[in-house]
Amino acid sequence: MTTTAITHIAALVTNDPSLGDNSPLGLIQDAAVVIEGDRVVWTGESSKAPATDNAVDAAGRAVIPGFVDSHSHLLFAGDRTQEFNARMSGRAYTAGGIRTTVAATRAATDEELSANVARYLAEALRQGTTTFETKSGYGLTVQDEARALRIAARHTDEVTFLGAHIVSPDYADDPAGYVDLVTGPMLDACAPYARWIDVFCEKGAFDGDQARAVLTAGRAKGLHPRVHANQLGHGPGVQLAVELDAASADHCTHLTDADIDALAQSATVATLLPGAEFSTRATWPDARRILDAGATVALSTDCNPGSSFTSSMPFCIALAVRDMGMTPDEALWSATAGGAAALRRTDIGRIGPGARADLVVLDAPSHVHLAYRPGVPLVHEVWRRGERTGARKHG
Ligand code: NIG
Ligand code: FE
Repeated sequence: MTTTAITHIAALVTNDPSLGDNSPLGLIQDAAVVIEGDRVVWTGESSKAPATDNAVDAAGRAVIPGFVDSHSHLLFAGDRTQEFNARMSGRAYTAGGIRTTVAATRAATDEELSANVARYLAEALRQGTTTFETKSGYGLTVQDEARALRIAARHTDEVTFLGAHIVSPDYADDPAGYVDLVTGPMLDACAPYARWIDVFCEKGAFDGDQARAVLTAGRAKGLHPRVHANQLGHGPGVQLAVELDAASADHCTHLTDADIDALAQSATVATLLPGAEFSTRATWPDARRILDAGATVALSTDCNPGSSFTSSMPFCIALAVRDMGMTPDEALWSATAGGAAALRRTDIGRIGPGARADLVVLDAPSHVHLAYRPGVPLVHEVWRRGERTGARKHG
């Protein structure tokens, strides 16, 4: 197999303390990475790089692991421009807006849904995302949820069944009947396409008992839980996530000390989604408090047409640093290794021997520029599974 070295990397983030400066980012200055097929086989100082078939000169740029976006909702049609516009004029965000997207999604063809996913994925890849998770949740019938997941599974292995996003409008008077549908025929139809099961545990969506019923039914069918928890207010979501060993509790905007303790003592990752607070003008989650307690934090986009219509991990990093108390190092770690932890993956989110060759070359000498230069397109090129994509023409 051909080997390729990327050389003259000003600062390489490996996310492996033992490979670099012993910090969590495992930084190596003046570094090289050697790729063979779709894997990384060597990292270290440029001067010590082994001989390879090909070499690519990074010319003093920084290299980081590809972003792992562990939370998105890309199976939708239409948009909610008017709702956003009204919100920016003072109207509050509620879970009810989801119904608008449900109607548009049901009316869309398979081709339209698939083209939509492909479009947002391409957008994300250009901004450095090499792995993404995505969910159903805008179909809310057996057929519409199953087709969303069937389409999603063509684009990623990290597929999540979110039939319990809100109670379907068809069951407005019978929420218990909807939970029976989700945990019965809908789960049966959806489980073959999904790895994960999720529920929106929130006032206006599903309460703790309903959420528990959904997640335990999913687990019995081989799906692993993750939970939309404590986004709009305090509630049982985080504690439930920890109790059921969910891979992540997502949002975590309103946390009690007990919620934070529970996260810190568990393997459940707190996935923070600053795009949602930005786009709904909501209170920021206190990342500092969660990190200081010792919990693992992931950063993700939550890309969806209602609460967070961004596919940009660099944007989320900038917000997390500016407004959520994270350091640039912590934010970078959370957007890469943290996302991998939230998907319980060890092959991504790091750059070291055996890892998938997913990496981003930045038009900057350091990863700190992602927060320092907000809104600037700093992604020079992206390597995904060892293949170079999106190299810019200018050098
Ligand atoms: O994660 N919180 C629930 N679901 C999405 C919002 C979906 C929508 O508004 O369409 C979220 O923010
Ligand atoms: Fe979400």
